[in-house]
Amino acid sequence: MGKTDISSKSVEMVPGVFWVGVLDRERALFDSFMSLPYGTTYNAYLVTGGEKTALIDTVGLDFTDILTKKVSESVKVEDIDYVVMNHAEPDHGGSIPKILSIAKNAKLVASKKGVGMAKLFYDVPEERMMAVEDGSKIELGGKTLRFISAPWLHWPETMFTYCEEDRVLFTCDFFGAHMAADKLYEDEVGDIVLSEARRYYAEIMMIFINPLRKALDKVAELDIKIIGPSHGPVYREPHRIVDAYEKWARGPLEQKAVVIYVSMYGSTAVLEKTIVAALKDEGVDAVAYNMVKSDISQIVTDLVDSSAIIFGSPSFYGGMHPRLASSVELIRTLKPRGKIVAVFGSYGWGGGAAKEIKSRLAPVGFDVIETLEIKGPPGDEALDKARSLGKAVARKIKETRAAN
Ligand code: FEO
Repeated sequence: MGKTDISSKSVEMVPGVFWVGVLDRERALFDSFMSLPYGTTYNAYLVTGGEKTALIDTVGLDFTDILTKKVSESVKVEDIDYVVMNHAEPDHGGSIPKILSIAKNAKLVASKKGVGMAKLFYDVPEERMMAVEDGSKIELGGKTLRFISAPWLHWPETMFTYCEEDRVLFTCDFFGAHMAADKLYEDEVGDIVLSEARRYYAEIMMIFINPLRKALDKVAELDIKIIGPSHGPVYREPHRIVDAYEKWARGPLEQKAVVIYVSMYGSTAVLEKTIVAALKDEGVDAVAYNMVKSDISQIVTDLVDSSAIIFGSPSFYGGMHPRLASSVELIRTLKPRGKIVAVFGSYGWGGGAAKEIKSRLAPVGFDVIETLEIKGPPGDEALDKARSLGKAVARKIKETRAAN
């Protein structure tokens, strides 16, 4: 298991199957919202059979030269027969035009929707593309690639590729983690991989809960030795990431509430502390985030197994505070499984924050069980109401867990 400098060399994972990906340590954000403290990788894989060669996914456009250099350690780029596009997003598809221009006889293999996207994003001519369906196969000579329909992970065209003889599953974004580690395998990097995989799951995959559960069902039917996602380390103990996804997607939610708040003059903060204490008194774990100094990425990760979300905002010109608004909108979009919501806050001369937050969340399936707006600094009566709100959330969490 010695040290391999994967930044400059390809890695042969099993005979004839190579990791030819690249490390991007400099990128700060993914999709302009997800922070990347450990950078990321764009993993591509080369599968060389006795007769044909396939490149599975490519890399971002800026990294094409590194990809071609790594491929050239095993085969000439012009000899690639197939470029499999599991996903069209430019972090994986950006090098497709360049690779196809060198490998003049190569076909681009993609799902039916993927073919449309390859035309749209990369202007690939129809005659250079091959659409595959669930179960379609390509024979490379002693290596068979089977394509598995897995849409909406992360765009509608996504699919998996499974190398039958070697039992390697290439899942592109699914099972990914944004990390540019200096070692290839998850077991060499350590526990931080699963922690980053959970953050990745929360921000990229959680929104697609039904497609991802269907994909997990398909994965469960496969005999897998290695899982090669297109971001972060490769799993040669595949159960570790599969079990983690099963837990996040289908496991019981924790007896836990996440409190997300902003306070301008301390009144909403006093309510927050009272509510958190009430939750803890009832045996419910509570994690509070002040949006003036918190990373939304961490909050969303905490929501993977949380039963409830409690928003606190002072009224800001008749609505919610702008520092809270982006988290409300992101959570509204990502749809965590725990849908119990309560809202609280203070106001000086006119309310409105709680009403606005409720109006954003209730229509899309969140169960807003309590709203509390307090005029001015909270006195004893207001603190009693805050305690009642915390207890009501705790009660609802327990009832919901008991019913499931
Ligand atoms: Fe890694 Fe959806 O792109």
